Amino acid sequence: MGRVVILLGAPGAGKGTQAAQLSKNLGLAHISTGDLFRENLKNNTPLGDQAREFMNSGRLVPDALVIEMLFDRVSKPDCEVGYLLDGFPRTIPQAAALEEALGTDADVVALSIEIRDAAIIERATGRLLCRGCTAIYHRTFSPPAQAGVCGECGGELFQREDDQEEVVAKRLNVYHAETAPLVEYYSDRDLLVGVNGEQAPDQVTEALLAGLSASCAADDRGSN
Ligand code: AP5
Ligand code: MG
Ligand code: ZN
Repeated sequence: MGRVVILLGAPGAGKGTQAAQLSKNLGLAHISTGDLFRENLKNNTPLGDQAREFMNSGRLVPDALVIEMLFDRVSKPDCEVGYLLDGFPRTIPQAAALEEALGTDADVVALSIEIRDAAIIERATGRLLCRGCTAIYHRTFSPPAQAGVCGECGGELFQREDDQEEVVAKRLNVYHAETAPLVEYYSDRDLLVGVNGEQAPDQVTEALLAGLSASCAADDRGSN
C-alpha cells in the first residue's frame, strides 16, 4: 500500500473540485463517498435506499454502511498504489476504522481545506453537477461555457437535492459536531496539513501540492 491522501473540509469547501485536480496530478484514484452514495441512489440499489433519507435531510449515513462501502471500493486494483479520499472519514469511528485497516503500511496525509462558514452557503447553493460524469460547476464562480451543459462530457447539469439552503445549514451543523474533530485527530498524529480554501481553485491546488511535498520531505527526514 502506497499513499493515502485524505481531504478534510466542510460541505462546499472544495474537496471534490480539488480531488479532481490532485487525482490527475498524483496519479491516485479519487474516492468520494458522496459520489458513491449518489451512484447508488441513482441506480436504486438497496444501499442507495438505506442512504437516501440521511443524505436528503443533511445527516450522515450510519458508520457501518459507509465503512463497508468504502473498504469494498478501496480493495479494487486501482487503489493498490494508494488513493485519495474525499468525504471519508467523517467521524472519529470512521477514522479509527481506517487507521486500523491501514496499520503502518501506508503513508497517510490529511489535507484540511479551511473555509469560513459564511462562504459555504453561497458555494453549495450555486453548485451544479453533471449527470454524465462527476464534473463540478458553480453558477457564478465556475460557470459552464454553455448554460446547463457539461464541458467535459456534454451531460446535463443539475442541482444536488441536499444543496437547498436549509439542508446545507443542517450539513454544516453536522460537520461541526461530527467531522471537525478530525482536524485535531490528525493533527495529534502529526499528519495534518491545513490550506486556505478561500482563494481561486488553482491557488488552492498549488497550496495543497506544496503542503504534500513539505509533508513528504518531513517524513523522509524522520526516517533517516
Ligand atoms: P458529500 O458529497 O461528500 O458532500 P459534502 O461533504 O457535504 O461536501 P460537498 O460535496 O458538498 O462539498 P465539496 O467540499 O466537495 O465542494 P465542491 O468541490 O463540490 O456527501 C453528501 C452526503 O453523503 C453527506 O451529507 C452524507 O449524508 C453522505 N456521506 C458522504 N460521505 C459520508 C461519510 N463518510 N459518512 C457518513 N455520511 C456520508 O465545491 C462546492 C462549490 O464551490 C462548487 O460549486 C464549486 O464549483 C465551488 N468552488 C470550489 N472551490 C472553489 C473556490 N476555490 N472558489 C470559488 N468556488 C469554489
Ligand atoms: Mg463533494
Ligand atoms: Zn460531464
